[in-house]
Parts: sequence; structure tokens; C-alpha cells
Amino acid sequence: MIRKGIVLAGGLGTRLYPLTLAVSKQLLPVYDKPMIYYPLTTLMLGGIRDVLLISTPRDVDQYRRLLGDGSQWGIQLTYCVQPTPGGLPQAFILGREFLAGEGCALILGDNIFYGAYLGGTLQKVSKQNRGATIFAYRVKDPERYGVVEFDAAGGVRSLEEKPARPKSHFAVVGLYFFDETVADRTRVLTPSSRGELEIVDLIRLYFGEGLLDVELFGRGFAWLDTGTHEALSEAGTFIEVVQKRQGLMVACPEEVAYRQGWIGAEEMERQATRLAGTEYARYLMSLLGSLS
Ligand code: DAU
Repeated sequence: MIRKGIVLAGGLGTRLYPLTLAVSKQLLPVYDKPMIYYPLTTLMLGGIRDVLLISTPRDVDQYRRLLGDGSQWGIQLTYCVQPTPGGLPQAFILGREFLAGEGCALILGDNIFYGAYLGGTLQKVSKQNRGATIFAYRVKDPERYGVVEFDAAGGVRSLEEKPARPKSHFAVVGLYFFDETVADRTRVLTPSSRGELEIVDLIRLYFGEGLLDVELFGRGFAWLDTGTHEALSEAGTFIEVVQKRQGLMVACPEEVAYRQGWIGAEEMERQATRLAGTEYARYLMSLLGSLS
């Protein structure tokens, strides 16, 4: 059973300069909320309530200011600094104490997921006891991502990080579940030619032992990119369109917590009061007593 989660929200965000010269990328707005709300609520939908957020020495206090200790959402948030961006698996070195010998989900702070059954899928995956689970999603430009190739039987044939000539259109998304061996396995990784520990190398260790499961996020599911100015703006538009159409918010942590029964009406009202006068606060108040 995976009970813990790590959100990796460091990096320099150089591709989004000048936006990120003074502000962490994962705090930028995606329509009406900070980007970090999206991955955080994804973990919450998966039933994960014990979360470590990792960011840069410059930015970590901003996250503390925004998210606090998590009690307003019925979760427990702790923070940790990544001195320099040495690769995604560093999360397990920095998070070793937090993990205390348990497995965890890792989500990248700039990954946005939206689609039916997301919570149910993640809750199912989190029940795994052994091995690793990753998720594949078809994209037009696989060379920008980790790429997984399948054989005719649907098993994994190969895994590569940003290959010049991708062997499939299936990208490995920035959400991973690892069992309790993850911290020890990370120790044997060595930096790649670009000087970073590579998540794909870690996944390959599980694959080599027959301990890798790949789930597909299919058509009708949205995995949104925020890596370029255009993609960031499009992600905001996507959220705006869905929210306006349904009158329901995407990635509202208060709502997720309330629906899961992690916070009650009183806490919900407190949060609404804090944000009084906003559309967001009105939405929180509208949820009280009207869940269906
Ligand atoms: O988004 C999915 C992709 O994420 C996967 O398909 C790739 O396999 C995986 O390597 C990763 O690729 P990126 O090119 O997006 O990696 P990037 O180095 O940009 O890091 C992703 C996010 O994680 C970014 O917002 C910054 C943060 N980060 C990154 C590194 C390397 C950290 O917080 N610390 C780090 O050391």
C-alpha cells in the first residue's frame, strides 16, 4: 500500500524565462490556480495524504507560504530543499528520511492530469505491494519525453529518455509509483551524459527484474504540458473551458479533501472566508451541503 507522495517542484524553469526569473515555474497560474494545485490534488485523489514537497533553496519558502502544513486540506505537508537540479531520482535521496523505508508516488510539479476515473485508477495502483507502476500516454512529439515501446503482446520492450528517434508515440508521464526498495535502488544509479540521475534508469532497474507495470492513459484523457509558453497558455485555456462548461473546478484541493471526508464544513467555511469575495470562495461555499 502506497501512502506517501513526493511532489518535485524544483528546477530552474529556464525554458519559461523571463516568467520564471523570480518565480518558481510550478507557482505560475494555470487559469485560476497555482500550477502546483494540480499535481497535489492528483495525489490527493489517489488517497495520498502524507506529502513531501521538494523545491529550490530560492523557492521553498514560497511553497510553505502558499500550502502551509496541509492541515487546511486534511493532509500532512513537509518540505525539503534540492540544492541543485541533479535529476528526478534525487527525490528519493533527499526524501529518504521522509520515506522511512516505505514506497511512494512521485509526481512532477508541472504535470497536469485530467480525466474520468483518475482517482480510482490511482487508488488501485497505490494498493500495489511490489514493483513500480508508470503511466504511458500517446503524444505527437515523443522525442521530448521518456518513451516506452511495447511488444505485440503489450509488454514493455524498451524505455528511453528523449530519444532522437523514438520507437513509439508513448510518452512516460511524470507520475510514478515505486515500492519500498526505491531509495536503495536509487543509490546505485550514476549520472547520465547530461550529468543527471535519470528516472528512466531507475524504471529500467524494476523492468529488468520483471517488476514493472505500465498503465495506459487512453483517449479522452488529458495529460497537459506546461513546458513552453504556448503549452502553458493552452493548459490554462483547457481548464477554463472545462470549468466554465461544467460549473465544477478542476484541481480544487478543498473540494477533493471535502469529498474524501478529510475536512468538514467548518474547515471549508474557514477557507472560503480566507478567500472571501472571489469566485473560488463562492465555489467552496456552493459545495457545502450540495454534494452529489
Ligand atoms: O513530464 C514528463 C517527463 O518528465 C518524462 O517523460 C521524462 O521521462 C522525465 O525525464 C521528465 O522530463 P522533463 O524534460 O520534463 O524533465 P525536466 O528536467 O524538465 O524536469 C521535470 C520537472 O521536474 C521540472 O518542472 C523541474 C523538476 N525538476 C527537475 C529536475 C531534473 C526538479 O525539481 N529537480 C530536478 O533535479
